[in-house]
Amino acid sequence: MRALQKTKQPFSFFTESVVDLNAVNFWLQKFNPLWSSNQALGKVVQKEMAAADMVSLTLQVNRHFKFGQAGQHHPVFITVDGVRYERTYSLTQLDRQHVLLSAKKVTAGKASTWLAEQAKAGDIIEFGLPFGEMAVPAQNGPLVLLAAGSGITPMFSLLKALSKTDQMRTQPVQLLYWVKHHEDAAFKVHFERLAELHENFTFKIFYTQGAEADARLNQAHASQIADLAGSTVYACGPAGFAAKAEELFAQSAQAFQSEAFSMNLAPVDDIGFVNVTLAKSKKVVSIPKGQSILVSLEQQNIKPEHGCRMGICNKCVCKKSEGTTRNLVNGAQHAEPGNLLKLCVNSAQTDLIIDL
Ligand code: FES
Repeated sequence: MRALQKTKQPFSFFTESVVDLNAVNFWLQKFNPLWSSNQALGKVVQKEMAAADMVSLTLQVNRHFKFGQAGQHHPVFITVDGVRYERTYSLTQLDRQHVLLSAKKVTAGKASTWLAEQAKAGDIIEFGLPFGEMAVPAQNGPLVLLAAGSGITPMFSLLKALSKTDQMRTQPVQLLYWVKHHEDAAFKVHFERLAELHENFTFKIFYTQGAEADARLNQAHASQIADLAGSTVYACGPAGFAAKAEELFAQSAQAFQSEAFSMNLAPVDDIGFVNVTLAKSKKVVSIPKGQSILVSLEQQNIKPEHGCRMGICNKCVCKKSEGTTRNLVNGAQHAEPGNLLKLCVNSAQTDLIIDL
C-alpha cells in the first residue's frame, strides 16, 4: 500500500521565498501594520521620558514576538533615512501584549536619536529573538543588582518580573544604581513604590557628577553588602563599570554575572597592524591591533555574522586556531589555540588564524 503523500497547504507557495513573504507582509500590513506572516513587530502606543536622556516607548506586539525572560535583550531593527540599523535593547514585559523599550540617547547614535526624537505613536518596530544570561535566579538567596547609566534597563525588567511573584516577599533584593546627575535617574518613582510595597527591596542611587559627587563603585560598596558570600550579583553598565564589578564580586559572591554595553579604550601599546588569516575564505587581511576584530573586518568589506556587538548574543563567535587576542571589555588576554572567539569584543594582539 502506498503511503498517502501530504499535500501542500493552499498558501504554502507564499512561504517558499523571501520575495513572496515580503509581498505577503506588504499586503497584510495594508490592513493592519502589526500583521505579518513571519515578523515580530511592535507598534508604538505611548512615548514618555524615563529620565532626561532616556526615552521609554510602550509597544503593542504581534503574535510572532517572543517575550523571552526578564533581563534578556532583544535585537531591535530600526530604519532611519532608508538605512536599516540593528541595535540591542533590554525590554520589560508589561502584560501579555505590551513591552516597554527604554533607550538612552547616545550622541550621534542614529537609532537612539530616532527613538528619542522621531518615534511616535503608530510607528512600527521589528524585533529579533531574545538572548542573554541575566535572568531571575532560580534560588531564593539575596540578589544584588548593580547598574550604571542605561544598565538600569535589564535590572528594571528583572525587578518588574520579581515583583509579580511571591519571590520578592522572601528574597532580599538590593539595587545600587549610578548616574551622573539627578535628572538622569530613570524609574526612580517606580523603585520608591517597590520599596514601600516590599520590605525586602532596598535601593540607593549614586550621583557621580555635581557639587557633592558620590563615589563610583568601589570596595566600600562591596563591604557594605550583607551576606555577599551567599548573594547572586548582577552588574550592567559601561565596560569600566562591568570590569570593576567583576574585580570586586566575581570571587567573593556566590554567583556573579555582568554585561557591558561599551568597550574599554585600547591600551596605548596596542598600536600597529597584525595579519588575520581567514581559514575558510582563504584570505589574509591586515587589521589594526587594539580595535574590535569585527569592526576591523567590516572596514575591509568582510561581513561576519553578528548581532548585539556587545559580547552577549554569541552570533559572531568563531574558532581561533592561532594567535593572541585581548578582550576589550575586561582587558583579559587569551593566547591558547582552539578557543572560541567573540569577534565583536576582542582585538588582535598578534597575527591570528580564525575559522571564518
Ligand atoms: S555580536 Fe553578539 S556576541 Fe558578538
